[in-house]
Amino acid sequence: MEEIATLEREILAAIGGAADEQALEAARIAVLGKKGSVAELMKGLGAMSPEERKTQGPLLNGLKDRVTEALLRRRDALKETALDARLAAETVDVTLPVRPEMRGTIHPVRHVYDEVIQIFGDLGFAVAEGPHIEDDFYNFTALNIPPEHPARQEHDTFYLRERADGTRKVLRTHTSPVQIRTMMAQQPPIRIIAPGRTFRSDSDQTHTPMFHQIEGLVIDETTHLGHLKWVLEEFCKAFFEVDKVKMRFRASHFPFTEPSMEVDIGYARDGAQIRIGEGDSWLEILGSGMVHPKVLSASGVDPDRYQGFAFGMGLDRIAMLKYGIPDLRAFFEADLRWLRHYGFSALDLPTLAGGLS
Ligand code: PHE
Repeated sequence: MEEIATLEREILAAIGGAADEQALEAARIAVLGKKGSVAELMKGLGAMSPEERKTQGPLLNGLKDRVTEALLRRRDALKETALDARLAAETVDVTLPVRPEMRGTIHPVRHVYDEVIQIFGDLGFAVAEGPHIEDDFYNFTALNIPPEHPARQEHDTFYLRERADGTRKVLRTHTSPVQIRTMMAQQPPIRIIAPGRTFRSDSDQTHTPMFHQIEGLVIDETTHLGHLKWVLEEFCKAFFEVDKVKMRFRASHFPFTEPSMEVDIGYARDGAQIRIGEGDSWLEILGSGMVHPKVLSASGVDPDRYQGFAFGMGLDRIAMLKYGIPDLRAFFEADLRWLRHYGFSALDLPTLAGGLS
């Protein structure tokens, strides 16, 4: 009895005196470890008479419980002290200026990406995504481009190696497969944009093998071509930050829209300056149209009930236009001097309220 009470006082003193978690762990092992003092006492129980064991057993178990409890409490206290010390040591002075040597900039494409999301977000569009490596079905077949269709050749597709079942994945040649994925995943009304990377085996001053598009898709029971034109006009005014834009809607053809239109934007070049909404130069920035009934059917949407429009816009193109960047290839050369010249401050996030550019 006496012996156990003395031991308990010693143990509790050792626990209370442990200055950090390491010391506490050492104290725990000294008591409850295989060769610890309490463990040794417990071992003695086996050699006792049943009578003795009846009184000693509960005493020892009580001791073990109290010691365990004390260890836990001490550990919590030590953790809290350590956290307080860290918080006190790692204070940040938020009033300090940004370090002058921080020279990183936001790439114009990323900046335009964020601008576009802001504008369409304000118009009620959500952002949807899809994979870069696509199934032929989403990239072509479901978009009413069956095997042997000439449009497949025009897409200069990067194919992946043939798989055991004879199918081949592709690097998506446009963001349109996200239309299919979205319609298969949710019922109308649908109102999404899908910005992202696209790939075609094509390279010259105005084409790079990797480029960026933004897809738009609106599906409900009443949306028509007039809504498409209005949305695109509102977008262009907001994006180019002008009150009036010159837009040219040209009848065109895509297998996945009917009717289809391509849209050019009018601009004037004045030396290195580009003025949107003036002059008589035109740049094609997007393809669009009313979603083809076959595309709706392929995606599980009832074409007798639902209709809507889609568009696909070249993000790099509108970035070049807005920021007067002459050569597309420079976008992807990772030239630091170019990035410092055309890049944006990381602190200038585009918002509609605060201004886009
Ligand atoms: N996917 C087409 C392209 O890459 C653009 C487009 C999208 C056209 C949606 C119509 C509707 O050229």
